[in-house]
Amino acid sequence: MGSSSKRASDQAVFAQIDRIRAHRRTFGALARRLVTDVVETVAPDGPLVEVGAGDGQLHAWLPDSARARLLCTEPRGVGLGRLQAAGIEAQRASADALPVSDGSTAAVLGLCVLDVVQRPEAVVAEFRRVLRVGGHAIHWLDMTTELGPALLELQPTGGVTLPNVFGDPSRTTWPEDLFVVPGEQLDLILEVLQRAAHAAEPVLRRYRQRFARPFSVTRATAAFNALNDDPQTRPMLRQAFSEAMRLASPAERTRLRGFQGRPMSSSAFLAARLQRLFSEGFAIVHNAIISVGEVQPRTEDGAGYRSLVAGASRTLPSPPSERLDASAPLPGAEQRLVELGMHTFVARRMS
Ligand SMILES: C[S@@+](CC[C@H](N)C(=O)[O-])C[C@H]1O[C@@H](n2cnc3c(N)ncnc32)[C@H](O)[C@@H]1O
Repeated sequence: MGSSSKRASDQAVFAQIDRIRAHRRTFGALARRLVTDVVETVAPDGPLVEVGAGDGQLHAWLPDSARARLLCTEPRGVGLGRLQAAGIEAQRASADALPVSDGSTAAVLGLCVLDVVQRPEAVVAEFRRVLRVGGHAIHWLDMTTELGPALLELQPTGGVTLPNVFGDPSRTTWPEDLFVVPGEQLDLILEVLQRAAHAAEPVLRRYRQRFARPFSVTRATAAFNALNDDPQTRPMLRQAFSEAMRLASPAERTRLRGFQGRPMSSSAFLAARLQRLFSEGFAIVHNAIISVGEVQPRTEDGAGYRSLVAGASRTLPSPPSERLDASAPLPGAEQRLVELGMHTFVARRMS
């Protein structure tokens, strides 16, 4: 990559980090509680190294006792500049080449990083090098995971991955943010919509072409993100699917009913991938969503409930019957319940 396109890519990553920061604000105290609890339990003493520190979000959540023994690392100049400007001890390094000696580290920490690294096997080998025996790799994911690896795994199925607009992704423990539609089903829907000159047909057809095998994972991911970020998408997709059912001939309707689209969770894909990546030389101590909740003063939006679980967010007038954190108190009239679920992965170096 040339230096100007490298700069542009760095700027794009950090523009995204700025957006993430804004989303995280409501959940900051909960994140601090969750992260502190894990670090104080798993790595109460000894040197800590953070990988892909970005602009220092995890550093801000960690307790003073952990910050005092933490070295932040970040490969991108923009991030390093921000960390150093904030007075945080940081070095420029990729997670697969850390500036610390063999067996020196009590825990390697990362927040929303292991899903984006290009060479995850090399990163895991590097963690194993720097960790002392009995030391831990700890990774949290509070926002949406990078989708590419999941799309690559799904490629052989011939399915087309859409944002899950057909149900509430937050209904399940692992948020089902994806909906995988069999390619043949989507082709039939497109045929029906084309016949009716339905306005959504060209958009859906272009999208479907991004998933024609063998597809470029980068381009398919970009198409997914563009669709997912468009506020019109949810009603448009739902309407197109139900219109196709209505407009289909009886024979087509029978065929459409025979297909099984599946909701899936991108964070569960990451959990399975980490399980595989850390299968040698490590024991996996934890690989699940940890949820915490608290009551806050209600804001102008009037909502009595907000949640964020691995990127899936919910704003409701009042708390749902099943809360994520059963021990969280119920909100009073001028209050709201806020809950945060983070995918928390902990692996111990065994040899
Ligand atoms: C989604 S951002 C998360 C940043 C920060 N941890 C946070 O959660 O706010 C991903 C970060 O991983 C970094 N990154 C990408 N590839 C990396 C690698 N091979 N080694 C270390 N960090 C990497 C990026 O520069 C970026 O800072």
